[in-house]
Amino acid sequence: MCGITGYIGQRSAWEMILGGLKRLEYRGYDSAGVVTVADGSLQVARSVGHIRALEEATPGGLPGHVGIGHTRWATHGGVSEANCHPHRDSKNRIALVHNGIVDNVEALRRELLAEGVKFRSETDTEVLSELVGRGVARGQSLLDAVLGALNRMEGTAGIVVVDQERPDRLVAARIGSPVVLGIGEGEMWVASDPLALRQYTERMVVLEDGEIAELTARGFKTVDLDNRDREKRVEKILHQAEAAELGSYAHYMLKEINEQPDALDRSMRGRLDAAMGSSHLGGLQSHRARLFEVQRVVFFGCGTSLYSAEVGAYLMSSYARVPAQAQDAAELAVQNPIVDSRTLYVAISQSGETADTLAALREIKLKGGLVAGVTNVVGSSLARETDFGTYVHAGPEISVCSTKAFTAQVLATELLALQFARMRDLSATDGRTWVKALEQLPAQVRFMLEHAPACKAIAQRFGGSKFTMFVGRGANVPVAQEGALKLKEIAYVPAEGLSGAAMKHGPLALIEPGLPVWALVPPDETRERMLGNLRELKARGAHITAVAAGDDEEVRGLVDEVLALPPHHPAVSPILTVIPLQLYAYYSALKLGYDIDKPRNLAKSVTVM
Ligand code: F6R
Repeated sequence: MCGITGYIGQRSAWEMILGGLKRLEYRGYDSAGVVTVADGSLQVARSVGHIRALEEATPGGLPGHVGIGHTRWATHGGVSEANCHPHRDSKNRIALVHNGIVDNVEALRRELLAEGVKFRSETDTEVLSELVGRGVARGQSLLDAVLGALNRMEGTAGIVVVDQERPDRLVAARIGSPVVLGIGEGEMWVASDPLALRQYTERMVVLEDGEIAELTARGFKTVDLDNRDREKRVEKILHQAEAAELGSYAHYMLKEINEQPDALDRSMRGRLDAAMGSSHLGGLQSHRARLFEVQRVVFFGCGTSLYSAEVGAYLMSSYARVPAQAQDAAELAVQNPIVDSRTLYVAISQSGETADTLAALREIKLKGGLVAGVTNVVGSSLARETDFGTYVHAGPEISVCSTKAFTAQVLATELLALQFARMRDLSATDGRTWVKALEQLPAQVRFMLEHAPACKAIAQRFGGSKFTMFVGRGANVPVAQEGALKLKEIAYVPAEGLSGAAMKHGPLALIEPGLPVWALVPPDETRERMLGNLRELKARGAHITAVAAGDDEEVRGLVDEVLALPPHHPAVSPILTVIPLQLYAYYSALKLGYDIDKPRNLAKSVTVM
């Protein structure tokens, strides 16, 4: 987690760095700091709270044309000014920002304490600063000192370092945590995410794992951990900066919920084959022969991405008739998975940087497995490390609470399942019907977004309830779980999402008169059994909101209100039923007055395990 950035050039480093940090704040936001170099010494500004607090605490900013910045999500050490980055060595000569975790911190700290170092923070990062500081104090170049420190470290580190005695350079490194360089004319930037760079330049260089870059205003050189030169390719930054602006919306979450029709349209553009009733996922074509051999598909991811994986597994087994399952990436990574050559693994991650998902993917690749990737972030670690894959093209997702990435990921699994289904038993006629259903999705999601006033009214009444239940069946079980996750995450309401089948086995005991329940009752093979669930819930006095067909009078007779679904193909219902749940969570958090885009204790990209 944590966002890191740096600048070297002719402009105000403070302004460049703050501009970058604001774009990175979604990665962590419990404290922030900047160090620049001016008049031969480090200038420091650090503060607990959001970037706004740092700006307010530093009227006029910091002088200088070179510097580094950080926005933090605490791992080692609590949220305090002392633990804010950048961290300096004990001689106050170098300053360093870090995204990652030093696993052997205790051994290194003990060694340095024995040599008389007095640490000022509880962070693992300060140990790295001290190691670099000792290197330069011994006369090493900043690059050599950073190499020396990294070679002693075990763990992960995206870092940027500045030395007050060599203000003509910055050194940045990528050990397990992403780092990209932005290239300008007579100036350079560095950041943990291209999103921070796009406002300044269109050209970037992505460091690979184990690469270290030395940046000056005129350019950069890259080496590996053994100090051997590495050739780098300059790439274009693809996402539009404007797409990351809030515009007229009050929150990124609301903006991103409303962007879903366009995101879905973009995600499926050029990927549907109406004539053949199939889909083309660019990356898959080159592995077509091997895909015919696949006998099992395992989707994996974390959080919301795990729920989209669960929908994907459901679609793959129901429609393509290929045995499929979804697994929590964190569990998969540590359970010594049995990997075979006839299984296709599909890693799903919005950011492409979730540590648990990357760990699972590396474990599977180590064992010879074939891994496809589904991600939103171009050039992310996941995109680089999978054998092939597809971008979901949802556009930058800034709100910590994921919305448009979920529907775009589910869409990617629809396209994958459709392709597999057509390669196996699904007829061309049935394939064409599915393709048509997908084409209608943007308009149908627009229809679902019109339920916003109703969702707001329900949130006004029930948003602060002590408990909320979400119930679905089949492909809508993960949607129910996703609805509960949204509500927990931003409105801090205890919530559970579950299969209607599981209700009687325990969770029904939680229901008391007046408690809100959201029931997903699309007109498909799950409807009859869901009707049974509605009766059980009604008998116990729950306040039931159903997401169901508008003309389903039987459902209407059993619930308190219905949010109508348009007529649709059953395979696409998860992309429609989730919309009111996103809106309900949003309006609940709004009513309760929480910081919707930056919920407490969380960060957008979970780059630690
Ligand atoms: C919930 C949410 C998280 C992420 C999870 C995985 O709204 O955003 O649960 O889905 O941390 O993140 P990615 O998809 O980036 O791997």
